[in-house]
Amino acid sequence: MSSDADSLKAKIDPKSVPLHIAIIMDGNGRWAKKRNFPRTAGHEAGVEAVREVVKAAAEVGIKYLTLYTFSVENWKRPREEVTAIMRLLTRTTKREVDELNRNNVRLITTGRIEGLSPTRRRVLAVATAKTKKNTGLVLNLALNYGGRSEIIDAVKAIASSVKSGLINPLDINEELFANYLYTAGLPDPDLLVRTSGEKRLSNFLLWQTSYTELYITDVLWPDFGRMELFAAIIDYQGRERRFGKI
Ligand code: IPE
Ligand code: IPE
Ligand code: MG
Repeated sequence: MSSDADSLKAKIDPKSVPLHIAIIMDGNGRWAKKRNFPRTAGHEAGVEAVREVVKAAAEVGIKYLTLYTFSVENWKRPREEVTAIMRLLTRTTKREVDELNRNNVRLITTGRIEGLSPTRRRVLAVATAKTKKNTGLVLNLALNYGGRSEIIDAVKAIASSVKSGLINPLDINEELFANYLYTAGLPDPDLLVRTSGEKRLSNFLLWQTSYTELYITDVLWPDFGRMELFAAIIDYQGRERRFGKI
């Protein structure tokens, strides 16, 4: 435990920690490239950052943590890299279930999970079932996730509810719409962190981030940890959220 991180932690106002933090974990490839490692070594190092950030988030009372783990566009990467990421996901999920339970963390997923292979789906189903009674941090993995496909899936589901007479088109409002998204039941993120300096959303939580505070850091994801998370929270606590008002 670094004392730098602890002194940052002391500066966090416990009464106004973000309820929901979402993170675009970017920069694994660049981290590996800098070291002349294969990109997959970057993803492996990224898993360590995930472990540290999950613990740190729970430690300061964050209730929801959504991690952008694999986008619908990421299938376009070389097949070997996709396979390596998927294997890492399954291996890590299996290995970490007991630790999640020890830390009272509930695991959930967001995205087109049906698009993952049966083995991956089974491992995720076991882990979500085994942690479902936990009452601490909700760890939400955005997997095979795309903001546009999420909106399209919601529109399709609403259209079929209208067709079968379950809902009246006049009753469609923001609240109803949000309930058809993969994230139904989750609050919108208060803070969105993106690592490795890219200033874009990359199809992440397009509907949900309408009023989210953005925090972009040049730190590459495998180098992001407890201290960087606390720094992001402190930055967030200095913002004035106006929601269109004055
Ligand atoms: C993020 O790191 C991990 C995933 C998208 C799965 P990248 O692999 O995108 O790393 P860079 O952007 O190439 O450095
Ligand atoms: C976003 O990162 C997806 C995840 C972190 C899972 P990318 O590296 O895929 O995004 P782009 O391609 O730089 O926009
Ligand atoms: Mg990237």
